[in-house]
Amino acid sequence: MSFSKLIAQDAALIQARLDRAMSGLANEPVTQAMRYAANGGKRLRGFLVLESARMLGINPEAAVSAAASVEALHAYSLVHDDMPCMDDDDLRRGQPTVHVKWDEATAVLAGDALQTLAFELLCDPALGSAEIRIGLVAGLAQASGAAGMVLGQALDIAAETADTPLNLDQITRLQSGKTGALIRFSAEAGAIIAGQDRKALRAYADCLGLAFQIADDVLDVVGDATKTGKRVGKDAEAGKATFVSLLGLEGAQTRARDLVAQAEKHLLPYGKRAVNLIEAAHFVISRES
Ligand code: IPE
Ligand code: IPE
Ligand code: MG
Ligand code: MG
Ligand code: MG
Repeated sequence: MSFSKLIAQDAALIQARLDRAMSGLANEPVTQAMRYAANGGKRLRGFLVLESARMLGINPEAAVSAAASVEALHAYSLVHDDMPCMDDDDLRRGQPTVHVKWDEATAVLAGDALQTLAFELLCDPALGSAEIRIGLVAGLAQASGAAGMVLGQALDIAAETADTPLNLDQITRLQSGKTGALIRFSAEAGAIIAGQDRKALRAYADCLGLAFQIADDVLDVVGDATKTGKRVGKDAEAGKATFVSLLGLEGAQTRARDLVAQAEKHLLPYGKRAVNLIEAAHFVISRES
């Protein structure tokens, strides 16, 4: 099956799991906003969970709660990222952002509830033993909290008003937190569910996460808002520290290609079984949205 068909098929499974997880919730503005924010997107993180599991012999039905979990966590991070106190964006996935469509209080609460939903999803017995589920909960907590995504987001906001521009190490630390940590956890999740070693997947995902964020930064400069579904040209305007601001457009693109080549190498131990994860790495830097 082609990569585009596979990711579309996985996205449908993930959407169905998210719909089921939210089906019992009362119909209120906060839950409407949750469903709205959890809808759509490329589902790359969820795909990484399902594909790393598939590569290690676990079928998608057995891993889908973890895939839905990382997508719920990611959706929460986007709702908060778009708020006026952070990036102040009015367009996401081609639609008005949550605080624009509802209000700021609803955006804070819908984000909060998507985050707790993510952890609830990891308690699903279909994922395996209690030990496996605790491993997933701890992994997601570390990836999304003050040592991971939250730290990266804090560094990203602080960099807007820093006196001196960030250097390469500082930007790498920022990006590895804000985007890398959740991508790393997504790829590792399959190994956690399968009870197998996760070193190679972690090394692959470290490179993939950085390449992914470089592509995001590049799209903010050269992308088309009708394809990305979000406003472009906002990073330079806000004074964001990105690989593009440091290395220039071409320097950043070269770095992203190098990172994809490195990502591929880390999957050598898996041989042909890694073909879809390799395709995912190429997709990350060639995407237009
Ligand atoms: C956007 O993530 C936010 C970043 C971490 C750069 P995605 O580009 O994966 O967004 P969706 O989920 O496809 O909308
Ligand atoms: C957002 O990074 C990362 C998280 C939400 C954790 P960006 O601010 O670059 O993402 P976009 O460009 O708004 O999607
Ligand atoms: Mg941001
Ligand atoms: Mg943003
Ligand atoms: Mg961006």
